[in-house]
Amino acid sequence: MNTEKPIVIANWKMNPQKEEEAVKLAKLSDKREVVICPPFIFLNSLRKEIKKAKLGAQNCFFEKQGAFTGEISPKMLKGYGCEYVIVGHSERREYFFEKEEDIKRKIEALLEEKITPIFCIGEDEKNSDSLKDQLKVLEDISLKKVIIAYEPKFAIGTGIPYNVEEAEKKKVLIKSILVKIKGKEEEAIIFYGGSVDSKNVLDYIKKAGFDGILVGTASIKEKEFEKMLKNLSL
Ligand code: PGA
Repeated sequence: MNTEKPIVIANWKMNPQKEEEAVKLAKLSDKREVVICPPFIFLNSLRKEIKKAKLGAQNCFFEKQGAFTGEISPKMLKGYGCEYVIVGHSERREYFFEKEEDIKRKIEALLEEKITPIFCIGEDEKNSDSLKDQLKVLEDISLKKVIIAYEPKFAIGTGIPYNVEEAEKKKVLIKSILVKIKGKEEEAIIFYGGSVDSKNVLDYIKKAGFDGILVGTASIKEKEFEKMLKNLSL
C-alpha cells in the first residue's frame, strides 16, 4: 500500500461500458496521488492492473450483510482493495433520494472498515443554506478521517466551472460552519469538484487552496485527463 496523499479523485460514474476500456483508462491514470473510482464490476480487474493509484468505489450500503438486494457492503469493498468510497454525491441525493441520515450511517460503516469516506456536499443556487444541514452529518466524526468534497450542484457535469474566488469563499464558509458544528477548530481536508478540467485545475488548488479535486467528465477523457495530471506535475 502506498502512503502519498491523494490529490485527484477520478469519479468515472457509469462509465466506461467495457472492461478493456476500463483497464486502459486505469493504466493511464495510474499515479500515486490518484484515486480511481470505477463502477463496482471493474474493481476486481483494476486492482490487478494498477500499481500506484488507489482504488475507490462510488457508493456503498451501511449494513454489514443480509437481505439487501443490489447493495454492496464496506467490508466487501475492502476485500476488493478499496481504500476510499464516495458518499452523498449529488446524483445519489437527487436520483436515489439519499438523505443525511443514510449518508451518516454510510460514513460510520466505512470508518468501521477503515475506509476513507469521500463525503460530497454542495448547494444549488436557490438554497445556499443547505451546506449547514449537510455538514451536520460530521458532528461526531473525526475530520481527519474524512475527505470533504465541495461540489456546487450547478457546476457538476455542466462544463461551466465555478468562479475560483467564489469557490474559495465557500471553502472558508465550510470551515467556519465546521467550527460551529464541532465547537472547536479541527483541520479539515476539503476537495473541490464540478467541471474541473486541465485548464482550471491549478486554480482550484493553488489559488483557491483546495487540498485536491474530484473529477467526473474529464477523468474519462484520456487525453484531457493525461493533460490534467501533467499540469499537476503528476
Ligand atoms: P464533473 O463531475 O467533473 O463532470 O463536473 C464531478 C462529479 O460529479 O464528481
